[in-house]
Amino acid sequence: MKDILERLEERRAGARLGGGEKRIAAQHARGKLTARERIALLLDTGSFEEFDMFVEHRCVDFGMEGTKFPGDGVVTGWGTINGRTVFVFAKDFTVFGGSLSETHAQKITKIQDMAVKMRAPVIGLFDAGGARIQEGVAALGGYGEVFKRNVVASGVIPQISVIMGPCAGGDVYSPAMTDFIFMVRDTSYMFVTGPDVVKTVTNETVTSEELGGAKVHTTKSSVADGAWDNDVEALLQIRRLMDFLPANNTEGVPEWPTEDEADRVEMSLDTLVPDNPNKPYDMKELVLKIADEGDFFEIQEAYARNIITGFIRLEGRTVGVVANQPMVLAGVLDADASRKAARFVRFCDAFEIPILTLVDVPGFLPGTAQEYGGLIKHGAKLLYAYSEATVPLVTVITRKAFGGAYDVMASKHVGGDVNYAWPTAQIAVMGAKGAVEIIFRQDIGDAEKIAARTKQYEDRFMSPFVAAERGYIDEVIMPHSTRRRVARALAMLRAKKAEQPWRKHDNIPL
Ligand code: HXC
Repeated sequence: MKDILERLEERRAGARLGGGEKRIAAQHARGKLTARERIALLLDTGSFEEFDMFVEHRCVDFGMEGTKFPGDGVVTGWGTINGRTVFVFAKDFTVFGGSLSETHAQKITKIQDMAVKMRAPVIGLFDAGGARIQEGVAALGGYGEVFKRNVVASGVIPQISVIMGPCAGGDVYSPAMTDFIFMVRDTSYMFVTGPDVVKTVTNETVTSEELGGAKVHTTKSSVADGAWDNDVEALLQIRRLMDFLPANNTEGVPEWPTEDEADRVEMSLDTLVPDNPNKPYDMKELVLKIADEGDFFEIQEAYARNIITGFIRLEGRTVGVVANQPMVLAGVLDADASRKAARFVRFCDAFEIPILTLVDVPGFLPGTAQEYGGLIKHGAKLLYAYSEATVPLVTVITRKAFGGAYDVMASKHVGGDVNYAWPTAQIAVMGAKGAVEIIFRQDIGDAEKIAARTKQYEDRFMSPFVAAERGYIDEVIMPHSTRRRVARALAMLRAKKAEQPWRKHDNIPL
């Protein structure tokens, strides 16, 4: 028996070495951790239970018969993050560049199936070159199985992808179908085809960083939702994110103990909005002052910064925040901001996370660039996302809520449950100057008349009271009591039950 146990230990030790010492050293030299080191950091200490450690590929082409590594390039299993179950797979770049074979795919689909059965999140750590080239269609078939399961699990359990090395082909398409993608700066890349293929096909010379580095994907393409400086920071931040997320679409948000009183007042908020309506202020200050312990996990921080999205907690429970940012492009809604916020709203709605919307928006961005870029369709995504949402929606208008953007930003009309406004709110079809220039066009040139008309328009519409008179605003609240008012509204809305009529699925403008 002792020999048998020793042999098991030997086999385990062999499997733990992945592609061998030399490749592990190369991995470390590139500033990357190994798959197992990453899992150990991600999960609670000692909680990882590994599956399929001895799985090997079955390929016999291109000399593959003699090159087998137990585990076949992916480490899979489950464990806990702060005591809550998660399923995990980590690509092992030291084995055939983490590429996906038929058996490697089977290891991943086993985890996906189990996660759906257990209604627990899946976290994939990617560091891999896509389909294993030597296996051909068997690898492509394997990817198909993974992709299909990504979609089946979508909206049922959270799926998180962390890109921690050069990733191509299926190792970017599978993450693309998950809820969030995060990257590691300087060591991770995402592209469908790498720089060599780009050079061959288009004769374009480009580096991996220029083609698919963290900067590109967090600021330009919006493929990634965030990036951190190294593996350790990334994994610790994923632990932090998981504390915000529900395990599935029926369990509801987690509740953590907090010492931050829900009725904490913030007197400084009474002077947050400047006297001059054209002067910006930082909406993030409001987000942080509302949040329990000022803890805000921002999503897509570097992309479309005219809108802010992310998670906070109120009374220890997760709330999704969508907020216009007057500091960037005056908080205008453009195509990028609309897409960014729409996806976030849909994530929250799918997973029963209530949404707090903070509004200071001068409207949609005019111009050919926006119209040619499909502003109508992209803006409609956000309108659609809010209109279909059945989670509790609490809205606070701090200053401008102009035009269509007023409707879009979780107004009463599209489903807002509790709609507040600060006394500084201005709810109108457009700003006073623009309005007067259109409806009193005949007076243009008569400065005195225009000034009087503008004042008249401002007095009538540049306040929350016209909307409040109609019940579109439930109450005009003191800025300093915003946290308490929002927390109370969300507590009341916990019992909310709202349903849409049956349909196979909706048809959101894509
Ligand atoms: C088999 C692979 C591999 C692959 C890398 N390797 N990718 N083996 N199949 N797809 C192996 C290399 O041969 C090498 O083995 C080791 O992994 C490390 O690779 P390097 O090239 O030395 O590393 P690096 O320079 O960092 O480049 C990483 C890389 C590059 C950018 C990922 O390897 C690459 O471009 N690979 C091919 C990517 C690709 O085209 N994949 C197919 C996509 S199609 P040794 O033994 O030397 O250590 C696909 C279909 C999915 O995925 C469907 C989508 C819808």
